[in-house]
Amino acid sequence: MSVKTFSSRVLFKLLKHGGIVSSKPLRAARHATAAVLGRSSARGYYNSGTPRCTGPGGAAHSRVVDLRSDTVTKPGPEMRQAMAEAEVGDDVMGEDPTINDLQKIAADMFQMEAALFVPSGTMSNLIAVMVHCKERGDEIIVGDLSHLHIYEQGGSAQLAGVHATTVTTLPNGTFDLEQLESKIRHGYPDPHYPRSRLICVENTHNIQGGRVLPLTFLQEVRALADKYGLSVHMDGARVMNAAVAQAVPPSTILQHTNTVSVCLSKGLGAPVGTILAGPRDFISQAVRCRKALGGGMRQAGVLAAAGKLSLLQMTGRLEEDHRNAKTFAKALLDCDPPLFAVDMAAVETNILRFRLQEPSLSPSEFCARMGQVNEGEEAALGQGIQVLMYPHFGNSVRAVWHLGISPEDTQLAIQKMQFVASQYSKEKLRAQ
Ligand SMILES: Cc1ncc(COP(=O)(O)O)c(C=O)c1O
Repeated sequence: MSVKTFSSRVLFKLLKHGGIVSSKPLRAARHATAAVLGRSSARGYYNSGTPRCTGPGGAAHSRVVDLRSDTVTKPGPEMRQAMAEAEVGDDVMGEDPTINDLQKIAADMFQMEAALFVPSGTMSNLIAVMVHCKERGDEIIVGDLSHLHIYEQGGSAQLAGVHATTVTTLPNGTFDLEQLESKIRHGYPDPHYPRSRLICVENTHNIQGGRVLPLTFLQEVRALADKYGLSVHMDGARVMNAAVAQAVPPSTILQHTNTVSVCLSKGLGAPVGTILAGPRDFISQAVRCRKALGGGMRQAGVLAAAGKLSLLQMTGRLEEDHRNAKTFAKALLDCDPPLFAVDMAAVETNILRFRLQEPSLSPSEFCARMGQVNEGEEAALGQGIQVLMYPHFGNSVRAVWHLGISPEDTQLAIQKMQFVASQYSKEKLRAQ
């Protein structure tokens, strides 16, 4: 099935009305600023900015452009209606027709034998590790900057009893294949060594800025895995973004993996849920692991109804997120004064990473200025604009586009960025 057929601009427009970019009262604006500064950050991994106050006075009428993550999307009216009207049953008994439908749609779309609806991407990856690595002392090979390795609390070790060895994540999200091969262990059953079982890849790559894994790389990883009797699991939380960027159906990507985890609750706009897909016997075992982890849900068809819309209608609009991210990246490059370093070739999807060229302006200070209404801003821009972003890995800033952010919102974010840059250089001149 072509990705183009999933497109629904009508749904996009409807969802925009329930979107997150709106005028907000002062308290909400302060809350949003606090989030940028790390006080309520969900991640917090590199988010060490010092708390500061909202700018003087004018935040009451500010616009908020929330670029923290594509997880902040909210379901719009059509999705909420589908949820309200969903037929439901007890899914632990396999009797929820909407979930069964969603799983069938996903399996067909990904060209996998079977699929399973699970509560989150983190649980989905953990179940995959548990099913692929059955024996205590089994080992996964995973990128050192992968979500699975960094942001999932070491669940593979903590809950599955599985050891991880890392390969270096290259800037485009791939690995050096020789290094990957060197990590495969051949000692089993010698009691000194873990047994290599699974190679995990991430597509698109979150920390590396939404990078899309080349199909040739995936083909080579799979060939290596096959050669040594290993399996390949893809953390494809954003694999639909990859499919859109490569203009291929997701199955073209997933033909090179044994199993995949695809989040419905990121750019695809569902409030909850992830699909884990793979061979039929793998999914049968995954059902058992999901139950053991407390992820067996009952009348969750109300959630699956949203997931169905995500898969069937929300993929086409991802292109718009990619375009908006590129527009903002280009504006960073063109900014006068030249404060920012961006690799345009690396802006492939909806996640943008950039650096500040001024050592005296740290990522957290820049994010703080973007997230608050600054002195003189309303006079200069006609309104306060709060743009929420996170300081990110490697002294960079991360901004993520999603269905709550329109081209107009992107222009607002650009205006704000230019204002912050020019204020900063004026302050610097005054200080000299
Ligand atoms: C690449 C990647 N994998 C997995 C996850 C985990 O998804 P969840 O938040 O649903 O547990 C995320 C979340 O941001 C992610 O970016």
